[in-house]
Amino acid sequence: GVAATTGLAAGSGSAAADSVGYPDAADWTREQAEQIERTDDTTAPLIDDSVEQLSEEQYVWDTWPLRNRDGSLAKVNGYQIIFSLTATDDVVPGARHNLASIRYFYSHNGHDWQQGGEVFDADAALGHHQWAGSAMYDEETGDVNVFYTAVSAAPEYRQRLAVGTGASLETSGNSVEITGGFDHGIIAEADGELYQTLEQSRDQGIIYAFRDPWFFEDPETGDVYALFEGNTPIENPSEYTDWNGNVGIAKATGDGLDEWELQEPLVEAITVNQQLERPHIVVNDGSYYLFTISHKFTFAPGLTGPDGLYGFIADSLDGDYEPLNEGGLVVSNPESAPFQTYSWLALPMGDDLAVTSFYNFRETDSLQDVGGLPADEQKRLFGGTLAPSLQVRIDGTETEIVREMKDGYFSPAIGAQQRGNGRSKQH
Ligand code: FRU
Repeated sequence: GVAATTGLAAGSGSAAADSVGYPDAADWTREQAEQIERTDDTTAPLIDDSVEQLSEEQYVWDTWPLRNRDGSLAKVNGYQIIFSLTATDDVVPGARHNLASIRYFYSHNGHDWQQGGEVFDADAALGHHQWAGSAMYDEETGDVNVFYTAVSAAPEYRQRLAVGTGASLETSGNSVEITGGFDHGIIAEADGELYQTLEQSRDQGIIYAFRDPWFFEDPETGDVYALFEGNTPIENPSEYTDWNGNVGIAKATGDGLDEWELQEPLVEAITVNQQLERPHIVVNDGSYYLFTISHKFTFAPGLTGPDGLYGFIADSLDGDYEPLNEGGLVVSNPESAPFQTYSWLALPMGDDLAVTSFYNFRETDSLQDVGGLPADEQKRLFGGTLAPSLQVRIDGTETEIVREMKDGYFSPAIGAQQRGNGRSKQH
């Protein structure tokens, strides 16, 4: 999540979203969010300090794998590929957002990742820098398509959904290269009607959102979408309506990835939470499981939820999403280390989920010597690498963390869980 460092001006009102004719968004209500509870089933084990750095020079945070159109993990000539937001490892966590650069890593076993380098030519990629992100491998053409957020420089952080299409992969016995360059295009900008613009957003210390495009092909229709994190414009502000996060969706209307249309959000958290980040869907046994990450600091006053992975279930893509586990919480950090990991991503692993995340920060007593940031930010020790993945079992509207796997493990297969390191739960 991104906290605003300066105030953002309030904007003018907007037209009612419901006049557009798409099905109404499902609501995540305050009553539901009041049921959020850390339980044994939703609390990750404490991580010990033995986590290895993914990269020696860079911190990494939000990470996503190269996936096939159907959402399964791509394996290209025996290689898996992941993409991460990165910054050099001499910054404190709060300073990294303005420096983000997407790099890729590759591996034969989904765990021992080798550094591949920067994904985009910095001059060609849209935005001052790029945020998260998804990546789709077209098995028919061999094209690599990387979806990202084109962001303007701090403190404004204006966000647009973008995609780089048409690059290729060249593999050898020991390396993977992304070649041929990308064609960059904008998928969508906030329209002020369905999705709040920067100008409309009101300052409550949290930056507005129009980011994190996630490629999704609906198995029922074959239609192509990008899910994303947005905010809903509020026509008549009332108590708590500045907390107006939504899970947005745009539909690809042409044959390729260059024509898109914004649709009504899938879920709205008005009066509940300002940021529903990195939304993504796993279809399991005909049910649509919608996941999103959120922070303690972005819940509206009067509600508490930990930094965590939250989830919803519906029987179709635009269905009536209901929170999993009553309140929505699927994975949280242990109470003793509430910020140990973040940016969970739930990926299908057989009938279960492999949930990946990055090692976030620990709070220390000593101030690091970096100016320009609040003191509590300067006391944070950033992990900046991939955290142990979790195996999560889903059973209708209930979920359970059943196992901790290796650090940075992106599992392509059911059998992969056998290779977990077997650490048991300890809170
Ligand atoms: C989540 C997130 C994303 C954004 C990125 C910015 O960790 O806030 O929503 O793309 O981090 O660094």
